[in-house]
Amino acid sequence: MIRYPGSKAKIVREILSCFPHTVLEPLFQGPRLEYREPFFGGGVIGFAVMESLPARASVWINDKDFGMAALWKVVHQRHDELIDMVVKFQPTTDAFYRFQDEDNRTDMDPIRTAFQKFALHQTSFSGLGAMAGGPIGGRKQSSKYNVDCRWNADRHCTDIIKHHRTLKRFGARVRITSGDFAPLVEDAMPHAFVYADPPYYEKGGQLYKCNMSDGDHRRLAAAFQTCRAPWVLSYDDHSFIRDLYQWAEVEDIQLTYTIASSGKKRRKNSEVVIVPRGEVLASPAEVA
Ligand SMILES: C[S@@+](CC[C@H](N)C(=O)[O-])C[C@H]1O[C@@H](n2cnc3c(N)ncnc32)[C@H](O)[C@@H]1O
Repeated sequence: MIRYPGSKAKIVREILSCFPHTVLEPLFQGPRLEYREPFFGGGVIGFAVMESLPARASVWINDKDFGMAALWKVVHQRHDELIDMVVKFQPTTDAFYRFQDEDNRTDMDPIRTAFQKFALHQTSFSGLGAMAGGPIGGRKQSSKYNVDCRWNADRHCTDIIKHHRTLKRFGARVRITSGDFAPLVEDAMPHAFVYADPPYYEKGGQLYKCNMSDGDHRRLAAAFQTCRAPWVLSYDDHSFIRDLYQWAEVEDIQLTYTIASSGKKRRKNSEVVIVPRGEVLASPAEVA
């Protein structure tokens, strides 16, 4: 729905095919079930998972980025007001720079925070939002592709409604927070399932306002090493990460695809999926 750096939109199938089906099937059928996603971002994988969860499940999604958490809270609870703003909006470079200045301000009306986050990503170069050098088409708007070229109010409204309905299926059992990943991993009980997609180790600093230090990546690995719930983690393929997770299964998802990088260039990037050692990965054919 939202253009978001590091989005897994192009590799949903590949990521889902790495989920440990022998662990998840009994969990999904059991009496208690919770889905946790500590680095939700644009939520591409999360929404695919939530669509397949039974409605009795509870859900906890989180992102340290205040505006992203605000966006999902509004989609959940006040989507009509968000739709109103989307329908009335006409993208301009002035709006882009204003939204960039005001990004993640905590003193604005939550609907405005959510709307501006959404609009900023849709109108920014490479979907980088506040981290973009400028709007699509640049300050002068002299390109073939300009600030409004990715704005399609009808499609955005359809997406907002779809995601709203997905979240509403879980009734009051939806929790959306903006904080650190730690409690979602550390306190997860065995009836929970955690999918985590932290900032890329190598390029995170160019893509996210909220990035992670080496210490944060180590903290995450330590939390997963003692996590009581089943979990799946996706990362960029980097020797630092492979070293950190020597005690787990690191699966190369055998795919390279293009991600937005620092501005003008687009580079190939390959990813790994990490699961606790000994968990059986589903083959893509079994998942399809
Ligand atoms: C790779 S992105 C997630 C992308 C998402 N899977 C998607 O498909 O759009 C990583 C996210 O982690 C968030 N983040 C960074 N540091 C964090 C922290 N310490 N705790 C929780 N979230 C954090 C960033 O704001 C960013 O949205």
